[in-house]
Amino acid sequence: MNKTILITGGAGFIGSHVVRLFVNKYPDYQIINLDKLTYAGNLENLSDVDKKPNYTFVKGDIVDAAFIEGLFTKYQFDGIIHLAAESHVDRSITDPMAFINTNVLGTVHLLNAAKEQWKGNFEGKRFYHISTDEVYGALGDTGFFTEETSYDPKSPYSASKASSDHFVRAYKNTYKLPIVVSNCSNNYGPNQFPEKLLPLAINNIKNKKPIPIYGKGENIRDWLYVEDHASAIDLIYHKAANGKTYNIGGHNEWTNIALIKLLCKVMDKKLGCEAGESEKLITYVTDRAGHDLRYAIDASLIEKELGWKPSLTFEIGLEKTVDWYLDHQEWMDRIVSGAYTDYYTKMYHNR
Ligand code: NAD
Ligand code: DAU
Repeated sequence: MNKTILITGGAGFIGSHVVRLFVNKYPDYQIINLDKLTYAGNLENLSDVDKKPNYTFVKGDIVDAAFIEGLFTKYQFDGIIHLAAESHVDRSITDPMAFINTNVLGTVHLLNAAKEQWKGNFEGKRFYHISTDEVYGALGDTGFFTEETSYDPKSPYSASKASSDHFVRAYKNTYKLPIVVSNCSNNYGPNQFPEKLLPLAINNIKNKKPIPIYGKGENIRDWLYVEDHASAIDLIYHKAANGKTYNIGGHNEWTNIALIKLLCKVMDKKLGCEAGESEKLITYVTDRAGHDLRYAIDASLIEKELGWKPSLTFEIGLEKTVDWYLDHQEWMDRIVSGAYTDYYTKMYHNR
């Protein structure tokens, strides 16, 4: 069936995998990728689908309400998959306002535009909000986040995401807007901006620079390969009942220090170094303020109701990820030098 779908934040890490999946899997859908191209947006992530007839890139800001209204009038979207966000916890600690603007205001502008465009005629329409497990706060040594866990965000990032989740659900309750929400654990894989732990560590090990570990490295995250998140998003967009929330996670908990030690072993092998060489780069640094101790997702609902499960073991996913970064050194170099920001001007100046 022909549909026009808006994907926001499609030039970012997860968004680019979602755009690629939808453009290739659904040739009958028109996919509009709206992205502001902040420091985290990189159109080179999508150079393989860039010229496909069912793909259009639009540069724009979800915080600009008049622009968003015009975009909705122009394209008459059937669905929205909303990933655009400020996504890095450390940046939210130094600049919380950017997170309130994009994550809260930007989301509400999109909700308003969808409400106005659909005007109560919701047949075949859907607003899918992509969120995070961080809205649930932090766990102790035991237990899991379920879809029923109360919200208890603890960083400006997670507070802004929690707020946007509340607005999405409030629009369903108040205006009957058809919505779905998913809350996912830590993603890893190709194209992740090297401010996040894994690509940062891979790049530093490659360049024999220190690997910064916050505090004692005892914080725990639940890691999921990014293409498995994209496949869950596809399933939820097409199969979830109106109003549902699903948690998505990898059943794959690691303390940061154990994760980095495993990465060091893989890197030693890939770089042909002596065993133990990369581990020497581990450097303990000042902890993140208010650092959440542990996240762990109970993903049994999506497994039971939609038949989703991660396709890769962590050992395979991590090796694939390391191979990707080592094979795409140019991608990393262009980020580090800032040259990736030229791509838009070069490729889109006459479109
Ligand atoms: P990212 O930072 O890599 O990408 C975000 C994208 O949004 C970038 O392309 C950026 O240019 C764009 N953007 C930012 N502000 C914008 C604005 N005002 N208007 C339009 N575009 C804007 O983020 P990511 O890691 O890919 O995360 C994507 C989504 O998934 C976010 O909503 C995040 O909260 C959520 N999420 C991420 C993870 C994870 O592990 N990375 C896990 C769960 C949920
Ligand atoms: O849980 C989902 C969330 O995962 C997403 O909502 C966020 O958008 C995403 O950024 C991620 O948040 P984290 O804060 O968990 O990811 P990050 O890669 O920044 O850090 C992972 C862990 O590693 C965390 O405990 C902090 C630690 N860390 C991070 C960096 C960048 C370090 O020890 N050293 C570092 O240099």
